[in-house]
Amino acid sequence: MTPTSAETAHASVAVADAAERRWAIIVMLIIAMLLAMMVFTGLHWASMPPSRVETIDPRTLHVSGEFVENNLGTTLGADGKVMVRLIAQQYSFEPQCLVVPAGIPVTFRATSTDVVHGFVVDKTNANVMLIPGFIATFTTRFDKAGERLMPCHEYCGTGHEAMWGRVQVLPAEEFMAKARSGERGSCVPR
Ligand code: CUA
Repeated sequence: MTPTSAETAHASVAVADAAERRWAIIVMLIIAMLLAMMVFTGLHWASMPPSRVETIDPRTLHVSGEFVENNLGTTLGADGKVMVRLIAQQYSFEPQCLVVPAGIPVTFRATSTDVVHGFVVDKTNANVMLIPGFIATFTTRFDKAGERLMPCHEYCGTGHEAMWGRVQVLPAEEFMAKARSGERGSCVPR
């Protein structure tokens, strides 16, 4: 007995329903996987939320205030807090080499004098954009002593690929022995 046209229509509706349900399940699984990845990276790699908004006039950076040249580099505060100040400009970081301790929280304060630059320290979660007019602040911790690279990761002009610096992570005792409260430290050869 051949199926009537009504029966054929019914069967194709059932096939379409099944296919739609299958795809709905696949899409829900993909969304669930993406959410799980966000939660995992957030917790496991301590992805940082954007820092709060703090502005600065990029035209007077070199002249006065926090980011004048002799205020850049690493400082050990009287309270034992380690702070690094740096600026990015086409096409270098100042200072070119940062000294930081291993295993101790380090707070970075950085900005740009000209265009948008990127700041990242390889194999760490230190990763921000440096935007002229804004101060980027974050605190991170370097687990292992050693040398890290600090490339600019935001296209900032023809010299972008040559824009990078170094980060020297010293064992905490060595850092503390070198750092004296109030002095700016860096590993730029003099
Ligand atoms: Cu600075 Cu790319």
